[in-house]
Amino acid sequence: MKKETKKARVLSGTRPTGRLHLGNLEGALRNYVRLQDDYDCFYFIADWHALTDRNEVVPDLQEDILEVTIDYLAAGIDPERCTLFVQSQVPEHAVLHLLLSMIVPLAWLERVPTFKEKVDNLSAGSSPGYGLLGYPVLQAADILIYQANFVPVGQDQLPHLELTREIARRFNALFGEVFTEPQALLTSAPAVPGIDKRKMSKSYNNDICLADDDETVRSKVMRMFTDPAKIYRGDKGHPDICPVYFFHTLYSAENAPVVHATCSDGTRGCVDCKKEMADHLLSSLASMRSQRRLWESRKGEVKEILRQGSQKASAVARTTLAAVQQAMHL
Ligand code: TRP
Ligand code: SF4
Repeated sequence: MKKETKKARVLSGTRPTGRLHLGNLEGALRNYVRLQDDYDCFYFIADWHALTDRNEVVPDLQEDILEVTIDYLAAGIDPERCTLFVQSQVPEHAVLHLLLSMIVPLAWLERVPTFKEKVDNLSAGSSPGYGLLGYPVLQAADILIYQANFVPVGQDQLPHLELTREIARRFNALFGEVFTEPQALLTSAPAVPGIDKRKMSKSYNNDICLADDDETVRSKVMRMFTDPAKIYRGDKGHPDICPVYFFHTLYSAENAPVVHATCSDGTRGCVDCKKEMADHLLSSLASMRSQRRLWESRKGEVKEILRQGSQKASAVARTTLAAVQQAMHL
């Protein structure tokens, strides 16, 4: 039998923050979908990571997990071609996290920028949780337990990835070569602006979600920031600083040069410009949004996909964990 050359493995996780937005779609999801063709992809919902910066219960965590998964499926993540799962359904991650925690110096964790930032934002007198400090160790376990070769992440995750590589090297030096050192796959996609022109983010409340209905999308587009120098239709605008123009380049690239020219010479008004952009946006997302509605009506099936994916992931995770435990004489 001809042996197929083994595909390199890709792994990435998303915290279940609820419905994903266009920034998530353009910045990560489209790339995840493309990678499925050439790599053995593992994509998961990092629900334990969602607990690291909140002490209170998250009443709708199950709902958030489903919403993110539905966005994945609608965007074209195909459970037949990749492994789609939930972190907490693969408890091996937690065992590896514990074992790795034994060899990670506290100083490595205290200097992680996301940790420092979160600590700075804590109210005076409150002490950061243990889980928050361990966040990157858990992330390292997520990655190393699948012997991932590549991790598609945004710029903000690079320190976590570098730490993962350091942990792998340290483990390998102490106990023998067990772990593959993963590499970051940086996405080249430009940051998508939100409706207020800052980076699109759920926490800024400036996002357009894949799950938003037509009316919501249109009303968000109509509220969008434009060039403040362009007040009247006849005023000359500066499309390069306008998020509406940016969306034209994303969703109607062939019209973008005309939009640019007519905004700049004052023959285009912002209201029409926005209406036109909303039409293009809605039509280029139409099939994804109808897929979304379909999955929305089949939540039982979505849960089953996650359950089966988690079993598949578990089988791989167990193999790595066995090698780790043997190397540590456990
Ligand atoms: N920390 C990542 C984020 O906030 C989520 C994450 C958890 C992750 N584990 C991972 C990403 C492993 C890549 C690989 O986006
Ligand atoms: Fe932006 Fe369009 Fe108005 Fe120009 S005409 S400022 S591109 S909304």
